[in-house]
Amino acid sequence: MQMTEKDFIPKIYSKTIESGSYTWSAPSNIALVKYWGKKAHQIPENPSVSFTLNNCKTTTKLSFSKKENLNSFSFEVFLDGEEKDDFKPKIETFFKRIEAYLPFLRYYHFKIETSNTFPHSSGIASSASGMSALALCLMSVEKELSEVISDEFFNQKASFLARLGSGSACRSIEGDLIVWGTHTEIDGSSDLFGIKYPFEVHQNFKNYQDTILLVDKGEKQVSSTIGHDLMHNHPFAQRRFEQAHANLSKFITIFKTGDLDTFVKLVESEALTLHSMMMTSMPYFILMKPNTLEIINKIWAYRNRTRSKICFTLDAGANVHVLYPESEKESVLEFIKNELVVYCQNGHYICDQIGFGANQIQL
Ligand code: DP6
Repeated sequence: MQMTEKDFIPKIYSKTIESGSYTWSAPSNIALVKYWGKKAHQIPENPSVSFTLNNCKTTTKLSFSKKENLNSFSFEVFLDGEEKDDFKPKIETFFKRIEAYLPFLRYYHFKIETSNTFPHSSGIASSASGMSALALCLMSVEKELSEVISDEFFNQKASFLARLGSGSACRSIEGDLIVWGTHTEIDGSSDLFGIKYPFEVHQNFKNYQDTILLVDKGEKQVSSTIGHDLMHNHPFAQRRFEQAHANLSKFITIFKTGDLDTFVKLVESEALTLHSMMMTSMPYFILMKPNTLEIINKIWAYRNRTRSKICFTLDAGANVHVLYPESEKESVLEFIKNELVVYCQNGHYICDQIGFGANQIQL
């Protein structure tokens, strides 16, 4: 049976607790079919699929203690030990969105201590890993307050909550391949949470590598939230949403057969389509930088020269994710060092690979 929002509203909690703390570490993810465009309540306009990453992670410790005043939320946020008041509005919005599903939120004061394995200013989105780590900590509290919560429901609700923080965050709970959004050919797929990709995946995609080239570490000129909004009344939006469904169908075949040539074409087309949506919205904007294009051209030249299966993808920014099978690790890293590092800000890049999801950290 299809889960609905109501299934995530808890019954009365059977236990009471005064205070405690939980720590979770959650990874970032990189979409192959992109989520761009959403309806109310963080419902995506189209399904997406992503590789969960392994090294780019956020670790969050949530400490909580009972408070008297139930009129408002009470929390403080620290990044690398320093109080971060500018994170508060985003978390306040998150708490408001999830309050109906976690009624205990007003009963406690929370201390949120977070750190990322990648530099905060790197331009790598920390919202996916950050929101999923926080959602998992909150689920640990709910688990302690409740009689029984199955592992399956725990992950599903963590993903459901993370989505309400940031859409792509719902794909950062588990691994290694996650689908978010209803798709007719994928049983169990849901607009409300991410699920593990349920079908056969060819050996070619095991340990897939993602080297992230940091082209521009500055703040994004246009936030994802504004970008998603611009898909309303966008002249090409409906065709794009249909295309995403069709592309996900094609990926089902690619994952099964291990057809890397088709994989490369589809992954790059998705990345460029995402950026074309930005360039054709009103107002229009360009998030790629000259060095993003230099890198893309070098990758194409290398592929033509060597018949490598290397390809690129992009998020809503200038950084380039270079994807390649593990079997090419040595040669591609050599190519990156020799030809691509010059285009990275301060020569900075991050080596990552496909990962298997979040972990609770027992302190
Ligand atoms: C371009 O998840 O950051 O990375 O739901 O508004 O928080 P909000 O948006 P966000 O959008 C990211 C979109 C993307 C593509 C993707 O990850 O699928």
